[in-house]
Amino acid sequence: MRKVRSPLFYVGDKYKLMPQLNKIMPDYIDTFFDVFTGGGSASMGVKANKYVMNDIDYNVIQLHKYLMTQLKSPTYFLNKMYQLIKYYGLTCSAENELPENFTEIKKTYKKTYYARLNKIGYLKLRNDFNSNQDNMDLLYLLLVFGFNHMTRFNRAGKFNLPVGNVDWNKNVNEALTNYSKFSNSNQIILHNLDFEQFILSQRIKKDDFLYFDPPYLITFSEYNKLWDNNTEKRLYNLLDTLNDRGIRWGLSNVLTHKGKKNNILWEWIHEHNFYVYPIKSNYISHFDNTVKEDTKEVFIMNIPKTRRELP
Ligand SMILES: C[S@@+](CC[C@H](N)C(=O)[O-])C[C@H]1O[C@@H](n2cnc3c(N)ncnc32)[C@H](O)[C@@H]1O
Repeated sequence: MRKVRSPLFYVGDKYKLMPQLNKIMPDYIDTFFDVFTGGGSASMGVKANKYVMNDIDYNVIQLHKYLMTQLKSPTYFLNKMYQLIKYYGLTCSAENELPENFTEIKKTYKKTYYARLNKIGYLKLRNDFNSNQDNMDLLYLLLVFGFNHMTRFNRAGKFNLPVGNVDWNKNVNEALTNYSKFSNSNQIILHNLDFEQFILSQRIKKDDFLYFDPPYLITFSEYNKLWDNNTEKRLYNLLDTLNDRGIRWGLSNVLTHKGKKNNILWEWIHEHNFYVYPIKSNYISHFDNTVKEDTKEVFIMNIPKTRRELP
């Protein structure tokens, strides 16, 4: 399968790794359980008869529900978004809606030109969303134009990310098209639960496959705040129980990163005979755009890979 990116442009997105993971995961999957779904790129990149996607983040699941409904009519959705972009005076490079002096501005502000052009409109958009947080159209626009395509709320519950140096470009349209194909042609169920509660609430069969992509204990991102040694141990206990029940699963994680080592993971691997596959890392240094040499990313399964490589 080719790489398909989710229109949530999620931090820790697995879309680049899916071709590698697909060569290891089982050939036949009835229901694919995407236990830590995030942007959903893992589900989008795997072939299965059904998909059950879960995440503890309420907004992430709301965004999936919203996109799945909206993208039943992609043209209607795009037109609505383009009207909002116009209303807020934002740029839209997908439609070549850029100011006349764009080339000049781009030259002058090499790394911040979109942020400079969109700041005023973005702040108005953010205020409007914060006064009516039920408006998902505005939340999705904030995600597209916001810093690192993230969603973040302060303690008072207000969306508080600054403008990003991005706009509505061709990649957004392509991601939305791929997502609409995925969501319109598959049976998908969404849940918003802690991973353990989620698994306990599901009826899992032998030909299903569970994919776990939790926050990584030794890396940093916004959602890592929800993760600590206890949740890490709780996850491995659950994987042991599932293994005893004969349920097939795969886990993504990193063993070492920036001089740190995940000792809990390391010990758990050494206590079991699971199958550990090295994965070419996704971790790019934002400082110099190089892949971090010391990041050991792995995919662990409780069954051997059965796919034969094509000659
Ligand atoms: C590495 S990201 C998943 C990325 C995803 N595979 C993708 O391609 O976009 C980890 C996710 O775990 C979620 N998460 C954190 N703690 C959780 C918990 N206790 N139960 C379920 N999900 C959790 C976070 O909200 C985050 O979306």
